[in-house]
Amino acid sequence: MIKDKLNIPLDFLYTKTPSLIGVDICSSSIKIVELSESTKKNSYVLERYAIEPLPINAVSDGNVNDMEAASECMRRAWKRMGTRIKKISLALPAAAVISKKIFLPSGLNEKDMEHQVEAEANQYIPFAIDEVNLDFQVLGPAPSNSAEVEILLAASRNVNVEDRVAVAEVAGLKVVVMDVEHYAAEMAFEQIRMQLPGGALDQCVALVDIGAHVMNVNILHNGQSVYMRDQQMGGEQLTQHIQSTFGLSTEEAETGKINGGLPENYESDVLIPFRESLADEVYRAMQLFFTSTQFNEISYIVLAGGSAALPNLGDAVATRTQVKTLIANPFAQMTLSERIKKRQLQIDAPALMIACGLAMRRFDPS
Ligand SMILES: Nc1ncnc2c1ncn2[C@@H]1O[C@H](COP(=O)(O)OP(=O)(O)OP(=O)(O)O)[C@@H](O)[C@H]1O
Ligand SMILES: [Mg+2]
Repeated sequence: MIKDKLNIPLDFLYTKTPSLIGVDICSSSIKIVELSESTKKNSYVLERYAIEPLPINAVSDGNVNDMEAASECMRRAWKRMGTRIKKISLALPAAAVISKKIFLPSGLNEKDMEHQVEAEANQYIPFAIDEVNLDFQVLGPAPSNSAEVEILLAASRNVNVEDRVAVAEVAGLKVVVMDVEHYAAEMAFEQIRMQLPGGALDQCVALVDIGAHVMNVNILHNGQSVYMRDQQMGGEQLTQHIQSTFGLSTEEAETGKINGGLPENYESDVLIPFRESLADEVYRAMQLFFTSTQFNEISYIVLAGGSAALPNLGDAVATRTQVKTLIANPFAQMTLSERIKKRQLQIDAPALMIACGLAMRRFDPS
């Protein structure tokens, strides 16, 4: 493989790797999930997970700004997990990855295919080929020409990959898979799709991830993404409102938001208006989706990300959009190890979609 030439693990599209844990480096925290295979077919056990907060700005917009702080955080999260597994899967943000479907003649041997992929990639990637990590997967025969195969190509600049690998190495962990965040979320989404009537076959489901800074709307049809939109909006805005309204420090505002204890008018003056603005944004994203695609119905909205834990957000979104709304729990169908605190997991689960999808890279999906 092309990636063998590089000294960096790259595996956007590969399907199975032995013992590993999923590590999500996001802007507010580092999250780790460990799954194992259950005795039940196609079912998993949630063995452990950890969410360790990151210092402000250590990671922003998908870039690691403070390698030392990020490594330290990853090491702490790993220690808290109490796992022995040191092999990890990581993901790059979508913005750091260029993916493209291309067509090549069928029947090429592996070497020729690599050469051709490299040549094709040169046309699409705005960087020198030796500056990028490249991976590809043969999807199958081309739909319109049986003499060709369809290939999914994924590439990212080496620096994007190297920074993340370095964070892990300093934390004492070894990266064996490098995935893409929305692919990982889509993998975990399959666990949620199983919970919907009829697996939501031939229906559109909006997966709305509301994190600290970004709201990502990913609309899926039979598990395939058909529309994606990012909006600069998230829980951090609410924390800032709390801070300015009640004259609190960032830490006090964040703790108050999550654990309660804020003044009485918090709900009416701060929480409800924020919740409404999130619901409005989801509604707007849906309208944009309808006007820019051939679809005209969304059957379910699944809320994910840390901010999905905001009280009654599901109801607010359902009322505004008139679409059935549920809170993401990719572990709902899984067996939970005795170590897992069920009530805490209920709160944390929506924020663990990417880490869960990354942990699933341990298994063969077939
Ligand atoms: N129990 C809770 N109630 C309300 N908000 C919460 C709760 N737990 C976490 N949050 C909020 O969720 C946000 C973090 O969510 P998440 O971990 O999904 O973000 P992230 O992935 O780091 O951010 P982004 O995706 O924007 O880069 C923070 O704003 C945090 O305050
Ligand atoms: Mg996030």
